[in-house]
Amino acid sequence: MEGQITVIGAGKMGLGIAQFFAQNDKEIVLVDLNERVIEEAPDKIKEELIHLVNIGILKEEKAKEILNRINFSSNLNDASSSKLIFEAIPEKLDLKRNLFNRLEKICDISTIFATNTSGISINEISTVLKRPERFIGAHFFMPAAIIPLIEVVKSDRTDHGVADYIITLFKTLGKEAVLVRKDIPGFIANRIQHAMAREAISLLEKGVASAEDIDTVIKWSLGIRMIFTGPLEQRDFNGLDIHSDIAAYLYEDLENRTVASPLLLQKVEKGEIGVKANKGFYEWDEDTKQQHIQAKNDALLKMIKYLEKESMNNNESNYKE
Ligand SMILES: NC(=O)c1ccc[n+]([C@@H]2O[C@H](COP(=O)([O-])OP(=O)(O)OC[C@H]3O[C@@H](n4cnc5c(N)ncnc54)[C@H](O)[C@@H]3O)[C@@H](O)[C@H]2O)c1
Repeated sequence: MEGQITVIGAGKMGLGIAQFFAQNDKEIVLVDLNERVIEEAPDKIKEELIHLVNIGILKEEKAKEILNRINFSSNLNDASSSKLIFEAIPEKLDLKRNLFNRLEKICDISTIFATNTSGISINEISTVLKRPERFIGAHFFMPAAIIPLIEVVKSDRTDHGVADYIITLFKTLGKEAVLVRKDIPGFIANRIQHAMAREAISLLEKGVASAEDIDTVIKWSLGIRMIFTGPLEQRDFNGLDIHSDIAAYLYEDLENRTVASPLLLQKVEKGEIGVKANKGFYEWDEDTKQQHIQAKNDALLKMIKYLEKESMNNNESNYKE
């Protein structure tokens, strides 16, 4: 049904979303209103694809085909013939509402609109829409072409058939798609990520261990285990009786502040905002940080490929050669 797919916004997420669909044989229109951004977009995607060729994930011929499947445009009217549109513009409610308002005017009434918002309420965006039943959240994770999961978020008015259709589409294309039945702030992953980060920052603030050691504990204990068992399944292995005994003395000691911690606020105030500023909880080197990110992405890709081969994931590969 979907035919050509439009992705709107050619920033960090939109580029990856367009690449993901094109890798899976879909014809794409990638729209960004910023002329400079759209001029640079083909080279950015090409660079990613060449890298995949260089590390042996893609064949050169396939990489060319993928790039040829993406049409780049700075004119929103080029979205009008798509029946499926994914938005990845900045995280601002009014910007997103205005965009979908305009799209509803130029697109067929059967078009499905999906937003990649990280946390704005799907209900709130859709209040201005004439056809909220055809509007849904499709939350990709960074890097969108690599991370297998999509949170598909229904608003109170999203049609069940639309949610089913989007989930089936992603599963067919090799993603793991999960239905978030309630439009809750942060959906599932960001809620759990922030709960963990709040505790980690608090441990750092209390001087319990260094940033590196806190990360090491998570990477080589919970992190590595969680590829195979999520937190609920893991608790079944642990025993809910034991969990409940631990909860009885531990919960009252866990970080539960409802505002960002002073340590976090001080860092932001000083401009120590992470990799972008070469300083956050760690010091980053301007010359090597890109290699660092690339090495992690490559390792993720290899691990996903391995898991697919071991049939941990029953879906088709994201990286058809
Ligand atoms: N960056 C992440 O890790 C991440 C992860 C998951 C979800 N998200 C969400 O994805 C969305 C996009 O994030 P990003 O990091 O790619 O942002 P970004 O700033 O990198 O890119 C946004 C792009 O949208 C373009 N744009 C702005 N207004 C537009 C309009 N009206 N029409 C067309 N293009 C327009 C901009 O020129 C820019 O290129 C946000 O809602 C964000 O919260 C981001």
